Amino acid sequence: MRAGLTKKGQKELYSKYLYDDLGTALFEAITLLPEYGLTRADLRLLSEHAADLPDHVRNVSVVVELGSGSGEKALRILPHLARLGPLTYCPIDLSGAALIRCQRDLADIPQLTVVPIQDSYIDGLTSASRLRKPDTNMLVLFLGSSIGNFEPPVAEGFLGMVRQNLKPGDVVLLSTDLVKDLGRMLAAYDDILGVTAAFNLNLLQRINRELRANFDLKEFRHKARYDDSEQRIEMHLQSTAAQIVTVNGDFDIELRKGETIWTESSYKFRTTQVRLMAERAGFNCAIQWVDTEWPFAQNLLCAR
Ligand code: AVJ
Repeated sequence: MRAGLTKKGQKELYSKYLYDDLGTALFEAITLLPEYGLTRADLRLLSEHAADLPDHVRNVSVVVELGSGSGEKALRILPHLARLGPLTYCPIDLSGAALIRCQRDLADIPQLTVVPIQDSYIDGLTSASRLRKPDTNMLVLFLGSSIGNFEPPVAEGFLGMVRQNLKPGDVVLLSTDLVKDLGRMLAAYDDILGVTAAFNLNLLQRINRELRANFDLKEFRHKARYDDSEQRIEMHLQSTAAQIVTVNGDFDIELRKGETIWTESSYKFRTTQVRLMAERAGFNCAIQWVDTEWPFAQNLLCAR
């Protein structure tokens, strides 16, 4: 945090810090906003196509979800696979609270064992893959377009690391938000109720609380912009005055009037770009299901 806030040039903070308990609740509220079409598109695609998944990945004994949250999406997939035989579901999340809710919400599915893993994505995936029975396949879910938070080379490297934990026959279901009309993309990250602004500003409040800083939240504004050449939405916190913020009586952060702290990137994709990225990471992109109401894709990637 210190490095990002005291560096020369563009100040920045890691977007993962947005997700403390309040930040997580605010993100869940964002998914209900009329302007934020991503989650509804993701759920629509699952409702339409989850029943077909068993045709594309045979003999599944373990389903792993990277960043499961409450498990709402998995709930639409798991019954179709558990119908065919005993199944283990490993939700992986850093939030213990989310994992407890997830376990409770999925408890009623017959033939399903839930094994929550509180860990980072790749370490969690490595632990989950040990639960797989011999000669069976694994399905990995990475939904919500969270891959869009990674810089493109990091996203590809991440998929490559996922691939290293898999065998041929295993499948990844990957969600990606697609490039669309500029007005819709911007509104999704700058909603009229100000929920996204609250989600962004909460990061400063979190730093005040957890790191004893004195950010004056009235002196910052939420900003969302789209960088066309990078194909990404950026969220920033803009300082409305020249100011000095002190952290823990330990170091100062100087901000000019109008200067911003960059808090998140959300990359938007074209279907061909997802296909190429998957292929370079060691997968065949077998299917791309696209929502027409809100351009968004679910990509079925087969480990080769
Ligand atoms: C959870 C990373 C997919 O980038 O759209 C929502 C987070 N940020 N509004 C996204 C987010 C601002 C979201 N992801």
